[in-house]
Amino acid sequence: MRQAIVLGILACLSLVSYVRAEDPYVYLNWVVEYGEISPLDVKQRGILINGQFPGPTVNVVTNDNVIVNLENKLDEPLLLTWNGVKQRKTSWQDGVLGTNCPIPPNSNWTYKMQMKDQIGTFTYFPSTLMHRAAGGFGGFNILARSVIPVPYPKPYEEFTVLVSDWWKKDHKELQQILDSGNPFPLPDGILINGKPRLTSFNVVPGQTYLFRVSNVGMTTSINFRIQGHTLRLVECEGSHTMQEMYESLDIHVGQSSSFLVTVHSHNPKDYFIVASTRFTKPILTATAVLHYQGSNSPASGPLPVAPTYHVHWSMKQARTVRWNLTANAARPNPQGSFHYGTIQVVRTIVLENSAAKINGKLRYAVNKVSYINPDTPLKLADYFNIPDVFTLNSIKDSPPAGPAALGTSVVGTTLHDFVEIVFQNSESTIQSWHLDGYDFWTVGFGSGKWNTTLRRRFYNYNDAPTRYTVQVYPYSWSAILVSLDNKGMWNLRSAIWPRRYLGQELYVRVWNDERSLFTEYDIPPNALLCGKVKH
Ligand SMILES: *[C@@H]1O[C@H](CO)[C@@H](O)[C@H](O)[C@H]1NC(C)=O
Ligand SMILES: *[C@@H]1O[C@H](CO)[C@@H](O)[C@H](O)[C@H]1NC(C)=O
Ligand SMILES: *[C@@H]1O[C@H](CO)[C@@H](O)[C@H](O)[C@H]1NC(C)=O
Repeated sequence: MRQAIVLGILACLSLVSYVRAEDPYVYLNWVVEYGEISPLDVKQRGILINGQFPGPTVNVVTNDNVIVNLENKLDEPLLLTWNGVKQRKTSWQDGVLGTNCPIPPNSNWTYKMQMKDQIGTFTYFPSTLMHRAAGGFGGFNILARSVIPVPYPKPYEEFTVLVSDWWKKDHKELQQILDSGNPFPLPDGILINGKPRLTSFNVVPGQTYLFRVSNVGMTTSINFRIQGHTLRLVECEGSHTMQEMYESLDIHVGQSSSFLVTVHSHNPKDYFIVASTRFTKPILTATAVLHYQGSNSPASGPLPVAPTYHVHWSMKQARTVRWNLTANAARPNPQGSFHYGTIQVVRTIVLENSAAKINGKLRYAVNKVSYINPDTPLKLADYFNIPDVFTLNSIKDSPPAGPAALGTSVVGTTLHDFVEIVFQNSESTIQSWHLDGYDFWTVGFGSGKWNTTLRRRFYNYNDAPTRYTVQVYPYSWSAILVSLDNKGMWNLRSAIWPRRYLGQELYVRVWNDERSLFTEYDIPPNALLCGKVKH
C-alpha cells in the first residue's frame, strides 16, 4: 500500500515536470530579514527582502515557472502569499496558514509556482501575524507572452506603484494591540513606494507610460490621481477593461489597476502624483513626482482635488469598470467567449461581516464565526485524513442569528460548481474581500440589505470585470460569481488586515473524489510538516 503511494507520487512528479518542462524558469533567491527603515522620518524596524523596502518587483511572463527560495531570517515563522496569482491546481503553494506550515525562523522553503494563463498586475506580502505592517510586500507583474496581443499599444516604460497606509509603531506592538482586544489605531501616513513624498517617476515628453498601481495597505481605500493628466484604465487585476478615461480612481485595500498615461509633449515641468485616503477623517495624502526630462520647474500648485467623501461616488465609479469582451487575455480563448451571465448558479452564499466581543475581547466574524487557525494546515489535514482539524460547512450559507463564536470555517464545494457569493456589510466601515486561487466576476454593488430581486435590477450579466478582490461599501452589499474550477483549499479573507488577524476569514474547499493530476497536483516533496502531521 505504502509502496503504491510512493510510486504514485513518483509518477506524478515526473508527469508534473514533463508538463512544465517546455516553459521557462525564473529563479529568485530571497532573504527576508529585519532592517532599519524610516518612511515617516521615524526610525523603525522594517521587513526587508534582499535588503529592499518595499521588496523587489517581480516581472515574469505568462506560463513562466517561478521558483522562489525564501530564507526566513526573522524571529517568527513566516509565509508570503502571492495576491492574485492563481496557483492553478496547487493551493500547496499559496502561502497561507490553511495550506502551508509556516517557514520557521532561520530556515528556508522554496515555492514552485507556474503563472498559468494569467496576465496582469498583482502583489505579494507576508500572510503571517502582522508582518506586513513592517514591509515584506512588493509588486508582482505577469506580462503577456509575445504571441498574445494586449489591447493597447506597448508603453514606453512601465512603473510599479505601491500605495500603503503606514504606522510608526512596530508590527509586534500593533499585534499586541489586537491581541489585547483593543481597536486598531488609525494610520500615521500614506506611502508611495515606501515614501510619503519624493518618489520620482521620470518621463520623456510625449511618451505613454503604464502605471501599475496597487493598494498594498492594511486598512484604507485610496484615491489615485495625477495633476494635469488623465488616466486611461486598461487593466484591473488581470482583466482587460474598456479603456475609459478617469480623473482619478479609487483603489481599495488589496486591489490593483493599471493606467496608460500619455504625458504632454511640450513645456516640460514636474507634476504631483497623489494618493489620498478615502472615507477617513482626517484625509491622509502622499505625493510623488512625475518628473519630465528637461524640466527645471518642481511640481507646484494645488494638488488635484479628491472626489467627494460620499460612498455613492465610489460605487458609481465601480460600476463603470467593465470588461473588454473582445480583448485577448492569457487564456486560450478570447475572454468574451465565456458567457458567464448565462451559467446556472448552483449555490448562493451570503457572507456577513461583524464585530463582536468574544471572551471579553474584540474579534471579527463572518456569519458569526470568528476564524482561528488550527495548528495543522487544513490542506495537510485533508491530504493525510487527519480528523478533528476542521469540519465541512462549519459556516452557514447565510448570516445566522445569535452571538459570534470562535471556529474554523470551511465551505465545502464541488469542483466546477458555479457559485454566487454576496458580501453583506452591515457595518459603517468599508470592507474588502479577497479569494485566493480565483478571479471572479464582480457583478453587483448596491446599498442596503441584499435580496434576490436585486439581481435583476443591479447585476451586470454582460461585461463585469473579473478580479480577485472586491470592495463592499458601508451598509451595502457586493455580489460576485465564481466558477470553482481550481481544485484546492482556498483562503477567502478580509483584505482589511486587523480584521483578518482577528478572525474575518474562512476557507473554500473545492473538491472532487477523483485523484488525478489533471485536476490537482500532488503534495510537493518539500512540503513543510507541522501540527498533527509533524511526524
Ligand atoms: C536554502 O537556501 C540555500 C541558499 O540560498 C540553498 O543552498 C539551500 O538549498 C536552501 N535549502 C532549502 C531546504 O531549500
Ligand atoms: C477592446 O479590445 C480590442 C481588441 O484588442 C481593442 O481593439 C479595443 O480598442 C478595446 N476597446 C476598448 C473600448 O478599450
Ligand atoms: C429587496 O430590496 C429592495 C431594495 O432594498 C427592496 O425595495 C425590496 O422590497 C426587497 N424585496 C424583498 C422581496 O425583500
